[in-house]
Amino acid sequence: MNILLVGSGGREHALAWKIAQSPLLTRLVVAPGNPGVAALCETRSVAATDVDGLLALAREIAADLVVIGPEVAVAAGLGDALQAVQIPCFGPTAQAGQLESSKAFTKAFTDRYGLPTAAYAVCEDAAAARAALDRFEPPYVVKADGLAAGKGVVIAPTRGEAEAAIDDALGGRFGAAGARVVIEEFLEGEIGSLFALCDGETSMLFGWAQDHKRAFDGEQGPNTGGMGTYSPAPVFTPELVEQIRTRLVEPAFAGIAQDGAPYRGVLFVELMATPHGPKLVEFNVRFGDPECQVLMLRLESDLVPYLMACATGTLKDMAQPVWRDEAAACVVVAAHGYPETPRSGGEIRGLEQDFGSDVVVFHAGTTRDAAGVLRASGGRVLNVCAKGADLKAALAQAYGAIEAIDFPDGFFRRDIGWRALAR
Ligand code: AMP
Ligand code: GLY
Repeated sequence: MNILLVGSGGREHALAWKIAQSPLLTRLVVAPGNPGVAALCETRSVAATDVDGLLALAREIAADLVVIGPEVAVAAGLGDALQAVQIPCFGPTAQAGQLESSKAFTKAFTDRYGLPTAAYAVCEDAAAARAALDRFEPPYVVKADGLAAGKGVVIAPTRGEAEAAIDDALGGRFGAAGARVVIEEFLEGEIGSLFALCDGETSMLFGWAQDHKRAFDGEQGPNTGGMGTYSPAPVFTPELVEQIRTRLVEPAFAGIAQDGAPYRGVLFVELMATPHGPKLVEFNVRFGDPECQVLMLRLESDLVPYLMACATGTLKDMAQPVWRDEAAACVVVAAHGYPETPRSGGEIRGLEQDFGSDVVVFHAGTTRDAAGVLRASGGRVLNVCAKGADLKAALAQAYGAIEAIDFPDGFFRRDIGWRALAR
């Protein structure tokens, strides 16, 4: 089987790492990939948003399956373009992609189909948004409407900070993503990330994990795309998983189909486990990054048949995935200044050493310069992942590997998994 995987982050490195282990694979090409992916398989420098270029590449390699990693490729309409020429694609159409690209669209969707979520107001201008704050209690949750790579959310303890966040969001900081703001009820509880596959008709849960969104230890600092993940996470009791399935996942896929855009791919349900049951924080139309990394470490089953089944409508024939009875953790090493102004170009040394069979280092934002030196090229630079008999063992391995990596420009959180360890 020939597979084209689209994307360039740590999530795609993890997907490539897992796909490369499949006995069904003949050829794996990743576009554009990164230096870590390039050490594993073929890469081509076609951007994830270059729909025509990716279509041509899929044809050139006679792809049996195209796997879409990032939301920008969904939003660019890659899923639609592949569907039009009947190339099997793991990844939804741009219409379903609005569940991620517009928070206002998603809120209307949850109203239409009765999905539990935070009370909210969508505001087009600062005056309306300031007035809407009256309807909520502190802390205030202020969100830029569009795609802002997980960084468009501010939890403001005071009204003054909420107003500043409104001005900031509407003032162009997030470009078109800041044309509207959403003000939301603050949800009390523990956060979780759950993944569900769908082939347009049949759906299947496909793992869960907990992410740490804040930049610094103790859940301090700005929101990021995610600073570290672990799985299994004890917040996901069997009761909670069942509630998420019946109250969020199944109504969501049914609603999407009813809206005329049957979903083929993975739906990422970010939820708060509140005292009143799970409430939706947001949908994403892709695997989580870095949730995907820990799921790939734990997935015992071959990933490829699941991706193919979603793309071809045969998920009902698939058995439940098998997960290793081990824990996995991912610690993100980010460049100083992330998420606001990450410092680019810092040299990274020491990745060629043998960290042992439990450790995998995925590249998230790296590049090789003309001299072949590995350098940071993004906010999140490395995903140092490990598995172990339990979470403590997995974390010890991951942190041990970080100590052995030489990247002076980087920082990382030292408290990944603290909620699970505190239980
Ligand atoms: P989002 O980009 O919507 O995933 O939000 C980023 C992070 O902000 C989430 O992972 C939560 O930790 C937090 N957050 C978002 N919405 C809420 C809310 N309504 N109540 C409490 N925390 C929230
Ligand atoms: N780690 C959260 C996300 O992928 O949006």
